[in-house]
Amino acid sequence: MLLPRPSAAVVPTTAANAPVRGETGEPAIPDLGHGPRAPFLLPPLPFAARSLVPTISARTVQFHYRRHHAGYLAGLNRLLAGHALAGEALIPIIRESHGGAAPGALFNNAAQVWNHSFYWRCLAPGGGRAPGGRLADAIQRDFGGLPALREGLLANAGGQFGSGWVWLCAENGRLTLRRTGNADTPVRHPGVTPLLTIDVWEHAYYLDYQNRRADHATRLIDRLLNWPFAAAIFDAHLDRLAAAPEQPAATAPAAAVSAPLAPPRPADTRSATFSRLARLR
Ligand code: FE2
Repeated sequence: MLLPRPSAAVVPTTAANAPVRGETGEPAIPDLGHGPRAPFLLPPLPFAARSLVPTISARTVQFHYRRHHAGYLAGLNRLLAGHALAGEALIPIIRESHGGAAPGALFNNAAQVWNHSFYWRCLAPGGGRAPGGRLADAIQRDFGGLPALREGLLANAGGQFGSGWVWLCAENGRLTLRRTGNADTPVRHPGVTPLLTIDVWEHAYYLDYQNRRADHATRLIDRLLNWPFAAAIFDAHLDRLAAAPEQPAATAPAAAVSAPLAPPRPADTRSATFSRLARLR
């Protein structure tokens, strides 16, 4: 079924429209192509809608992208018209509009725009292969290995009551698992670098899996997670730390944070073996 085009323009990021400072001024957080200020742009999907089949149907991708993601973007641009934050980049708007215990529509739309643009980048046809490099070493150190991290992602996907997100993040060089409710996002916390996310809103899976969230999360992790994307962000996070080691502490409320399920372990000296982690299938 053909769906209407998004109400906002889909404009690929090019040298001509790429923001100079990025979206945060923080080099570890990728520029997702929203543009430097309102009206923000809807970044194009990084893959064809049908290319995630059979894990996620083209119909789900199209509804998710053209209705939900584009809808958040249209709402954000509408709310920013004449607003004092209209000249800011997207992540500063997220951080300045949160407003405490009851975030309003501006925060919800801004955060959902960023969360979804990041989510699409976290998926890749043929994904799910084990990461290498420094990220593989950190997974072994902080979770005891990729299978334990996989179980942690699944436990958080199942443990999120209602709508929300599950995140693998880097904080001062260490990996953490977080889950956030509704639109909330770790990117609002300076010093927290999201590496991967899983959307556990029902609109992300209900057409394909109905109420079977765990089946959706399992297949997404095993078949679609874009580990090279996460590894590149983690490398930038570590490089940033090496250049400026003093980072602000994360200030996420405890209820929105899930600690790694496997206790951190001392650095393992067998790092040469980590790149041979078995592919999760
Ligand atoms: Fe979503």
